[in-house]
Amino acid sequence: MRIWHSKGGKVCRVWVSAALAAGRLWREEFIMRLVRRVAGRRALLAGLAVVFPVGMAMLAGVMPVQAQPAQQPTAGAGQVVTVYSYRQPFLIRPVLEAFTRRTGIKVRTAFARKGLLERLRAEGENTPADVVITADFARLWALKKAGLLRPVESEVLRKAVPAHLRDEEGQWFGLTKRARIIVAHKDRVKDGEIARYADLAAPHMKGRVCIRSGKHPYNVALFASMIAHDGRDATRDFLKGLKANLARKPQGNDRAQARAIHEGVCDVALLNSYYLGKMATNEKKPEQKEWYGSLKVIFPEAQGRGTHVNISGGAVVKHAKNPQAGQKLLEFMVSEEAQRMYAALNHEYPVRPGVQPSELVRSWGELREDRLPLTEIARRSREAARLVDEVGLDH
Ligand SMILES: [Fe+2]
Repeated sequence: MRIWHSKGGKVCRVWVSAALAAGRLWREEFIMRLVRRVAGRRALLAGLAVVFPVGMAMLAGVMPVQAQPAQQPTAGAGQVVTVYSYRQPFLIRPVLEAFTRRTGIKVRTAFARKGLLERLRAEGENTPADVVITADFARLWALKKAGLLRPVESEVLRKAVPAHLRDEEGQWFGLTKRARIIVAHKDRVKDGEIARYADLAAPHMKGRVCIRSGKHPYNVALFASMIAHDGRDATRDFLKGLKANLARKPQGNDRAQARAIHEGVCDVALLNSYYLGKMATNEKKPEQKEWYGSLKVIFPEAQGRGTHVNISGGAVVKHAKNPQAGQKLLEFMVSEEAQRMYAALNHEYPVRPGVQPSELVRSWGELREDRLPLTEIARRSREAARLVDEVGLDH
């Protein structure tokens, strides 16, 4: 266990990280808390580290961050909203800072790669969290199922977030969306060879398809949408055909499929749309720009039901201490200003109708999205995962 403690001016941070070996490294838990002025002094005092039982601490890389103070205090001055976020700091901090500038409400944030559900459950009524922000839909669904969210009645959110991208009981809301597109080699795949997801299973694609694991939530959500549209039997047939067409066993992440196309392993793959933007602008790994340069973008089902989309989203926590400020934050995040900024940070699509995505995202073509409610997809996710196992897609 390591404790790092620094004082200086106004902020005191306590960071506790616990490392344990039992075949694997468990890291983490922390909390920073309270920053208070003591009468007459500039002293600050904070402190408080909450260390969870290690077995429960499935958190990795959680670090408290203090948002920028409001430049112009407004009606919200003095209020604080605490956010637990699965989204990486660089994706969310600019939006939170804009919120503070607009409202005067400060934002405290803890970032995590995983484990927030367990943490919220463990904290119960004592949780400091008001809002949870996730990078995908499956986690919001799981949080709702676990009874950790509270319904939000907000005309602003209802108007800004289309019905298929939010919970019917107001327990979670999409904040950005991404399309599950098909990428193809720009020369080896002729225009018109692929227009639908079903074409990935067509005989002319034999040995030309790459995918990541069929059990990954991105693929499970897509297959669940196919069950909703085409039925279970048709989806099983699709998965069998897809398996027969694979150039290699499912492996790697989305970007690894783009690389495989670039390197001639296969000709087509499924990809979340924002990865195109990440590759196209990757200065640290410029080879990814070459992968991007080998690809052309296909929006499947553009002539029919529309391309499957998923979301990043947000929700107010059941035991929030400041649910009003939490709601205000979500409402701000679907404002025109925040939508433009937030969607562009990860090359995603705004959920708010009428707000345009970034120029780069627009350059890929027009997204015509499948409006099947995400809740319908969630209800079929388990069935979709079972079908993946049944046809042995990953083996
Ligand atoms: Fe992703």
